Amino acid sequence: MRQADPRMAFDSEQVVEELKRHTSLSSLIGEYVSLKKAGRSHKGLCPFHDERTPSFHVHDAQGFYHCFGCGASGDAISFLREHLGYSFREALEALSARTGIELPEQRRETPEMRQARSQRQDEKARFYQLNARALGYYVSQLDGAATNYLYEQRNLTEEMVRRYEIGWAPDSWDAFATSVPRNFQDQRDAAALGLVAQRKEKRGVYDRFRGRIMFPVYAIGGKIAGFSGRTLSNDKETPKYVNSSESSIFKKSDLLYGLHQAQKSIRSLDIALLCEGQVDVITLAQHGFPNAVAPMGTALTENQCRLISRFTKRVVLLYDGDAAGRKAALAGVGLLLQAGISGRVVQLPDGSDPDSYLKTHGANALQALIESSPALFQAALQHTVASYDGTIPGATRVIQQLAPLLAMVPVPEERNRYVAEIARVTGMLEAQTRELLRSSAAKGRQAPENVARPPSVDVSANARRPAPSVEKDLLALILQHPDELLGHWMEGYRNQGITHPGIKLILEMSWEITQENGRFDAAKLLERLRDSGRTNACAAVVRMLNQQNHLSDKYEMAFVEIAETLKASEERRQLHVHVRSQTATLDTRGQLEAMRAFASNSSEPR
Ligand code: UTP
Ligand code: MN
Repeated sequence: MRQADPRMAFDSEQVVEELKRHTSLSSLIGEYVSLKKAGRSHKGLCPFHDERTPSFHVHDAQGFYHCFGCGASGDAISFLREHLGYSFREALEALSARTGIELPEQRRETPEMRQARSQRQDEKARFYQLNARALGYYVSQLDGAATNYLYEQRNLTEEMVRRYEIGWAPDSWDAFATSVPRNFQDQRDAAALGLVAQRKEKRGVYDRFRGRIMFPVYAIGGKIAGFSGRTLSNDKETPKYVNSSESSIFKKSDLLYGLHQAQKSIRSLDIALLCEGQVDVITLAQHGFPNAVAPMGTALTENQCRLISRFTKRVVLLYDGDAAGRKAALAGVGLLLQAGISGRVVQLPDGSDPDSYLKTHGANALQALIESSPALFQAALQHTVASYDGTIPGATRVIQQLAPLLAMVPVPEERNRYVAEIARVTGMLEAQTRELLRSSAAKGRQAPENVARPPSVDVSANARRPAPSVEKDLLALILQHPDELLGHWMEGYRNQGITHPGIKLILEMSWEITQENGRFDAAKLLERLRDSGRTNACAAVVRMLNQQNHLSDKYEMAFVEIAETLKASEERRQLHVHVRSQTATLDTRGQLEAMRAFASNSSEPR
């Protein structure tokens, strides 16, 4: 059933359709992927996996994209969600901003609200632009002291300096400030972003970043949200890092350093490394771990976990080998589990961080360390038990501390294993442990509902059998003329005569979608197929949608011909089944043979 206000739900569904229809998918995607026109579609290197030859296709007319390499497919909204990590809401807002089509609630805004919203949008656009300009400036200043530090002291390669667009803020009070255009708006924006600061005594501003290595922090999608600047000074009074001020585009707790560069690898490797700082991220990438990201000096947040979980559900925590790092890692365990992420916690040797560890031990050693590291919950268990005093109240405390975390471990077998282990280390009976866990978990926060997994790929031999060509022809015709043929086939011919399970499913899904939406939607079909793990079917549908169809005016005749053929063969098959079921009850050999001969004559050869 629909929710409270059915008209509203209807509105927003319509808006979603309208937004998609008015978005040129190739120009949207073209902002992130370089696309070339190829026949009726556009083609480029897939943003969802690493490849050398383009197998990523964008179809403007039908409003969807598809990659033959990795099976990624979807529409404008899924591109924004999956490539840029946007939420559904953010995706709608982005399309609304592009197309000028208002979202339902925006239509109900007062003029004041509307004005405020457009001011916020303008501000963000100006902020991003100014940051981009600042980045250009900092990169242009990179020389001498800065390059010496990066290349000689930190052993970074030029490639990494370019990949992360590292720059330099000169050790001056006004080098950047004087480069900002002298108009009121730019001056005020530069101060709001924390690029410059207001002088206390006199009028005017001064540079906030002085004598600092500048690490740009990207918002997902590649715009510059802000900077983190590391000083080269050893002066104890000078803060090691200065970051951009919090603003509408720089919210430190929502950003992850390095995610823009890492997202592709995170997706293709299906794992992310989470470390503490910029230099760790870059050194990891330089040593062959391109999938590293870092929160910037603050505890991991729920939003950051959610952001990662859009790209992978597996994370390795790679925090510094000191008390602070261990504490931060443990704090991260609960958040990650809660976000449905599984992973490991790496314990680096005392006093080292990923940067120093890689420099002394190398990439293979780190890889081995990662592989031998305990799982998230296991690490929390080890830590908690380390302070266990052997008393009964102590055991109860251990269990109470672990209960909420344990409830978040998604795999039941793992949970059971942990229960047994908790019982073992605390010396409690398993039943007792279980009871205590239950009562403490109930007191604590309820575990989130386990997210249902999409059904796994159908690997039955049947699904792999190549589809008969009549059936493929029928499907292609229907997909190319869904409005005219799909209903005719599903209602008139009741989807009869299709022997291939994949084709049958595609037709059923298409019909389902048509009935839900009032019309057929290719992007939805692809999405649904992909969600149920049917990448092959997905690719087949895309191919069929793309086929130049030569019988554009004769498709109805072709359809009727094929449909009738299939209907006839279905009738023969029914007879065949009927005959076979009868043979089971016959016992005279001769009759049986005769029946078999009859059946094989009357059904088409398979
Ligand atoms: P670290 O002090 O471990 O920095 O802080 P680092 O990246 O390893 O730096 P190096 O190796 O000494 O050059 C981890 C992260 O915490 C944030 C930064 O984002 C840093 O990368 N941080 C640290 C701050 O924001 N402010 C600080 O004063 C210190
Ligand atoms: Mn560090």
